[in-house]
Amino acid sequence: MKFFIDTANVEEIREAAEVGLLDGVTTNPSLLAKEPGDPTAILREITKLVAGPVSAEVTALDHAGMVEQGRELRSIADNIVVKVPMTLEGLKAIRLLSREDVPTNCTLIFNATQALMAAKAGATFASPFIGRLDDISADGMGLIAQCCTIYRNYGLATEVLVASIRLPQQVTQAALLGAQVATIPPKVLRQLADHPLTDAGLQKFLADWEQVKNRA
Ligand code: G3P
Repeated sequence: MKFFIDTANVEEIREAAEVGLLDGVTTNPSLLAKEPGDPTAILREITKLVAGPVSAEVTALDHAGMVEQGRELRSIADNIVVKVPMTLEGLKAIRLLSREDVPTNCTLIFNATQALMAAKAGATFASPFIGRLDDISADGMGLIAQCCTIYRNYGLATEVLVASIRLPQQVTQAALLGAQVATIPPKVLRQLADHPLTDAGLQKFLADWEQVKNRA
């Protein structure tokens, strides 16, 4: 499973990239709005920190505007993936961009039919938002299971990019279902390596080693 980080904060991305397990980045207008400075400059810096795909979202609502913004975003760097909302106009834009070999990420997916349509349009990634579904008492991970099954049923090449993750165990569940990508908030990414028994075990090893050192 590929790990993407879900942030536009350069320091958080740098810190995660240093571990060596980061495969890509997803941003959106809300994440970029939180960061001071020019969004284009921020995106350019991010594309230099991570060799893998960096999703940058269009804000136009019509397909022609989305395609134009998509081309502009792609001019920032070769590893930019154009993020397009799941609307009929968005599907048209994804189809047109895919004909130009521009990689796309269809965002704001909340049901399996939307995910199927994104794949039929030629999206590189489809992003179901699981946390926002859980927030309204719907079944976010159930949607991931449906998307994985449908894509497998029809041999669709679009990758399921699990978005709106809130908890470490959601990464495990998504991996068990076979989702190709999880985009993970920085806090959850740090939590993934944690286990209280790892900490306790390490403390015990070090304490025992102190006894050995005192023998000399
Ligand atoms: O990048 C899109 C998605 O991951 C947003 O997550 O936490 O705003 O629902 P959230």
